[in-house]
Amino acid sequence: MKILGIDIGGSGLKGAPVDTLTGRQLAERHKVEIESPCAPAKAAAAAGEIARHFNWKGPVGIGFPGVVSGSTIMTAANLGESWIGLDGAKIFAKATGCRVKMINDADAAGLAEMRFGAGKGRHGTVLLITAGTGIGSALFYRGVLFPNTEFGHVPYRGKAVEKFCAAAVRKKKNLSWQEWAERLTVYLRIMEGLVWPDLIIIGGGVSAKHEKWLKYVQVRTKVVPAKLFNGAGIIGAALAGE
Ligand code: BGC
Repeated sequence: MKILGIDIGGSGLKGAPVDTLTGRQLAERHKVEIESPCAPAKAAAAAGEIARHFNWKGPVGIGFPGVVSGSTIMTAANLGESWIGLDGAKIFAKATGCRVKMINDADAAGLAEMRFGAGKGRHGTVLLITAGTGIGSALFYRGVLFPNTEFGHVPYRGKAVEKFCAAAVRKKKNLSWQEWAERLTVYLRIMEGLVWPDLIIIGGGVSAKHEKWLKYVQVRTKVVPAKLFNGAGIIGAALAGE
């Protein structure tokens, strides 16, 4: 099936049509920048712009950076409180003129990695962590997703751990890749003790730069970068749009 996948991040919305059978992006992705926090109307307009860019009339899947229950937005840590309680599918359907399904952004990336990427054929416990503006998580056992795990909000030193080791923190605090990877190590060790994964996949923008930091991550579990790199969010959003 051909579905327009849109990944909402803290710095912008990225979208591309995807063939959900093969996981292939059918066109170069289109990005519309936003700032975080971002009002719902602004993000909806950006989604509308992406749909128009591809002249899209078919189904749309949207990965949202917060807890999504059905299509209701329950949290939006980095986009702002004005999102809470809104029906995401309704807002984005109005803006794009298409049928829309919603999913948490990290869950979307996880679906894509499990079907087409680093988690393919892995039947044990797989934990995908995305590091971007925040930290997202997706947990799978025997290939089945446990939705809306919010492991970026595990408390660490009195704050959500994403305030300690998201990729945005590296930039903001001017950390070297090694310093950031040491923070990631602290976090992954906490997660190892909580869910005992057989494999950890790291997604988000940092996955494409894994040669800079992966060597400094020292944990018991095998850690691999996402195979679809940053594309996992778009491809997974499209899978959720089926
Ligand atoms: C949100 C998650 C999201 C992650 C990555 C966190 O702040 O709570 O739902 O997956 O950021 O965007």
